[in-house]
Amino acid sequence: MENPFPLLLLSILTVLAKQAFASSLEEASTIVSSYGQPKIKLNKIDYCWRAKLLPIWSANRRALAECAVGFGKDAVGGTHGATYIVIDSSDDPIHPKPGTLRYGAVQKEPLWIMFNKDMVIILKTELMINSFRTIDGRGVNVEIAYGPCIVMHDVNNIIIHGIRIHDCVPGKQEIVLSSPGHIVHRLRDGDGVDIFNSSHIWIDHCYLARCTDGLIDLIHGSTAITISNNYFTQHDKVMLLGHNDHFKGDKVMKVTLVFNHFGPGLVQRMPRVRRGYAHVANNRYDEWLMYPIGGSANPTIFSEGNYFTASNNSGIKEVTKRESDSGWKQWKWRSYNDEFENGAFFVESSWGNCAPNYTQSQTFKVYKGSMVPTLTSYAGPLRCTAGYRC
Ligand SMILES: *[C@@H]1O[C@H](CO)[C@@H](O)[C@H](O)[C@H]1NC(C)=O
Ligand SMILES: *[C@@H]1O[C@H](CO)[C@@H](O)[C@H](O)[C@H]1NC(C)=O
Ligand SMILES: *[C@@H]1O[C@H](CO)[C@@H](O)[C@H](O)[C@H]1NC(C)=O
Repeated sequence: MENPFPLLLLSILTVLAKQAFASSLEEASTIVSSYGQPKIKLNKIDYCWRAKLLPIWSANRRALAECAVGFGKDAVGGTHGATYIVIDSSDDPIHPKPGTLRYGAVQKEPLWIMFNKDMVIILKTELMINSFRTIDGRGVNVEIAYGPCIVMHDVNNIIIHGIRIHDCVPGKQEIVLSSPGHIVHRLRDGDGVDIFNSSHIWIDHCYLARCTDGLIDLIHGSTAITISNNYFTQHDKVMLLGHNDHFKGDKVMKVTLVFNHFGPGLVQRMPRVRRGYAHVANNRYDEWLMYPIGGSANPTIFSEGNYFTASNNSGIKEVTKRESDSGWKQWKWRSYNDEFENGAFFVESSWGNCAPNYTQSQTFKVYKGSMVPTLTSYAGPLRCTAGYRC
């Protein structure tokens, strides 16, 4: 008969090891790289798919969909659909070829879209993305650039991860395919990502820069959205939440901006909010040229644990900008645990509860602003290699 003792010992050790691992997981989200590299600290989203028990991202790409935090937490993307691989960077706006990004983007059924190689996709018209879609750029370098870029219109459940979206310009045509056989007319404005009457959206680890209009415009009652871990640079009007003071439908808007790095060369609107609610948490702001956080029409803004570095120009130290001459003292704009460098300051207004009231699955620990340079140090697309920890 076999001696049961080693088995017993093994199971006790396993339990102990699991407990030790679980407690370090809650404490500091710290992992030690197994290849002798220094310790790295990851934010909650990255820890979820880059470091948990099965850390080889390429073995289970769809685990990513469980890792969002904040109001966009429930965006399932293409988790329950087939895998679609983009192998062709060309674009035909009306009769897209199988293998191109547009063909996968407009299909009716859910799809998890990935790419077989590095590519620069120059679109001829805006790319309208259908509901239940993930665009997963991990493992390759994918740029959507030098043409019209991304639109989400009356859709839901979209995840975009690890794509470089830059130098977006208005298209020459106004006719755009929105689903197979269905054509719509669009105004052409040259946004990076335009989100219109859409919900359950998560944009993570993208690079966004130098577009004709906004980098991300989130308008017309769009809600349940998380914008995280992105790197923004070299642009004037960065992010609009609500496009018109008179559009009451934007009151429902709930957006989480977390772990983003607003890098050099940005002018204003990070974000500019109308009517809705924005939780702006643990973002890094480098020297802006006008203001980082602004708004009009009584929006609620909760700025928590951000890291603001003002420029040396004594006229542009203020974080906040209200587009209103009077009445703004009633708007709830609050700052908590923010870190202000080089004379930056936030002008608060109103009183009362400003909490996001997240559900248990949406909630995340917001660190003090001084931690933000570490928490955002991986902002933008990551270099991931299949078969290795990313
Ligand atoms: C918003 O989108 C939904 C589909 O998700 C649609 O039923 C509704 O009519 C749209 N609302 C407006 C104002 O366009
Ligand atoms: C701002 O001033 C500090 C201290 O004089 C200097 O080190 C820094 O380079 C200046 N930054 C810019 C962008 O000029
Ligand atoms: C959170 O709840 C408080 C208290 O009920 C409320 O005043 C506040 O508006 C809520 N915040 C959001 C974002 O819904």
